[in-house]
Amino acid sequence: MSKGEIIWKDEYCIGVDYVDKAHKKLFELVSDISNVMDSHNYDNEGYACMQAINFLKSYTILHFKEEEGYMLQIGYQGYYNHKAIHDNLKEVVLPEFEKRLSESQFAPEVVEEFVALITGWLFGHILIEDLAITGKVASRYKKYSNDVKMTLRKEIERFGRDFIRINAVLADAEYEGRKVSNAMYYEMVYKEGYTVTVIADKRIITQIATNITGVKLTEITKMALIEYVQIIQSIAKGALYLIEKEDSFELISHRVFEAEELSEKFLVSLPEYSMLWNSELGELALCILKQ
Ligand SMILES: [Fe+2]
Ligand SMILES: [Fe+2]
Repeated sequence: MSKGEIIWKDEYCIGVDYVDKAHKKLFELVSDISNVMDSHNYDNEGYACMQAINFLKSYTILHFKEEEGYMLQIGYQGYYNHKAIHDNLKEVVLPEFEKRLSESQFAPEVVEEFVALITGWLFGHILIEDLAITGKVASRYKKYSNDVKMTLRKEIERFGRDFIRINAVLADAEYEGRKVSNAMYYEMVYKEGYTVTVIADKRIITQIATNITGVKLTEITKMALIEYVQIIQSIAKGALYLIEKEDSFELISHRVFEAEELSEKFLVSLPEYSMLWNSELGELALCILKQ
């Protein structure tokens, strides 16, 4: 199994030196764990892996503290929501994984899952939440003069351009759920009554994983899927914040499903926001439904 390095790019910089350095370092630490995993003699490396994970954890906690300090210093309006996202990783996600890791005695498949989850989480979080601190992406915490739909559209197109490296062109501003071929349908249901569905051509998903590691994938691996899901969850949350401004959202369920189900849903109620883009790597759609 070779996952390559997790590649840092300058466009991930938020423009605050010590925060950017810490983000870069976090990428390196995740790469280090991958490298331990890749070493031929994993049995002897279990301990090294545990140490690397522990170091990543303490570095993450330290970084959160610093970043939260910066947000307070500049009087960032999104401070509380942003801190809640950090707290969730620190207090819920990491402890759960630590338990699984130690119970499995750092079994390679659990470590692999951990690396994918943390990689996807970091990407999604830096590109959506952290960039908003310095206004490099639209911050949802200030009122917009243009409407939400336009902002959503621009954000998705920016994400496509800067991160997936595709040129997404809006093909349907009122997408009504027609089948998208060769696509993965991923649905997230929130306690607050929203259902967000992201449909993406499978080539887009493999391209995201390729961008993260620099290793060309031809099919969606388990790791690629875990990373993708983390990134999409950040995007969905970002989109919901854009719509509802200050509210925080709780994900209660999520799943991958079949195309047919989507059109059935649209027959029951039309989504608030539903757009479909075309790109060199196929189609991409975002549907946000409020019950
Ligand atoms: Fe952050
Ligand atoms: Fe950060």
